[in-house]
Amino acid sequence: MQRVMQELPRVYVTRRVPPAGMKILKQSGMCHIEQWDSDDPVPRQELFKRVSGIDGLFCVLTEKIDAELLDAAGPKLKVVSTMSVGYDHLSLDELRKRGIRVGYTPDVLTNAVAELTISLLLATSRRIVEAADEAKNGGWGTWRTMWLCGYELSHSTVGILGLGRIGVAIAERLKPFGVRKFIYTDAGPRPELANKVEAEYVSLDILAKESDFLIVCCALTAETQEICNSSMFSKMKNTAIFINTSRGGVVNQDDLYKALSSGQIAGAGLDVTVPEPLPTSHPLFKLKNCTILPHIASATYSTRNAMSALAANNVLAALKDEAMPKELKL
Ligand code: DGY
Repeated sequence: MQRVMQELPRVYVTRRVPPAGMKILKQSGMCHIEQWDSDDPVPRQELFKRVSGIDGLFCVLTEKIDAELLDAAGPKLKVVSTMSVGYDHLSLDELRKRGIRVGYTPDVLTNAVAELTISLLLATSRRIVEAADEAKNGGWGTWRTMWLCGYELSHSTVGILGLGRIGVAIAERLKPFGVRKFIYTDAGPRPELANKVEAEYVSLDILAKESDFLIVCCALTAETQEICNSSMFSKMKNTAIFINTSRGGVVNQDDLYKALSSGQIAGAGLDVTVPEPLPTSHPLFKLKNCTILPHIASATYSTRNAMSALAANNVLAALKDEAMPKELKL
């Protein structure tokens, strides 16, 4: 029995992951599973040791998968499967060079991320956190005509930076709120997606100028790194609300801080920051018009289990040299 176990491909799971994925790996009987049995990330030096000689890696977005890590893993590594739709933590060039296949988890989290994005948008524009704090902390005096006023979606223009599956899902859910117009920008027009929500393709400049709500949904790449910066914020309306549920790296946070504290824009809701966690001493936390969440957009029980299951199925398919359910084309 021991001998058979040793001959099975070794899969290293870098974290405790939702049960659906572990069940699939275990029930497959086709791999020997090793796991960092913690909710916290495996220390990098420890990871280097653990990955030596593995065939498959099941990771999450906190693990940087770069040349150093892949060298530590060695030539047997066939597949890296990340339990995330984002893959900015993976060095794609290095993976491509080594012929390592990559799995990721698009689609299964679209609804959860869209729901959270809308929650964050409403929380920010209607000042929900600030209002709840006032109610709890004695700031609630008499009913006042202009107290805690915010901005509404009815008749608004919503701008989407990066119109993919998630951007469309957000627009579909926002439409019933009475949004007047959807506009978007991306590397180029995406008519097949835009037609679903009647969104108009515009330049980044127009997106900044016309959006009452500007929602960032793009992937973090070399092209989108800090694309939301002082140049963009300076063109936005001073009544505009900025929402980011993609990656913190798309935003220049110093510029965002200046835009928020100077009243250049009205408010921001962030589910992602640089770094994560954002230190509690960070100036953005001092602003009443900035709502910050700890990267929870996909955090529903069903979605996290679906992501875990998909990541597991991606690993198993690659180990069998079969088509992966969701393979990233490198
Ligand atoms: C992802 O999957 O990339 C999200 O940021 C976390 O679910």
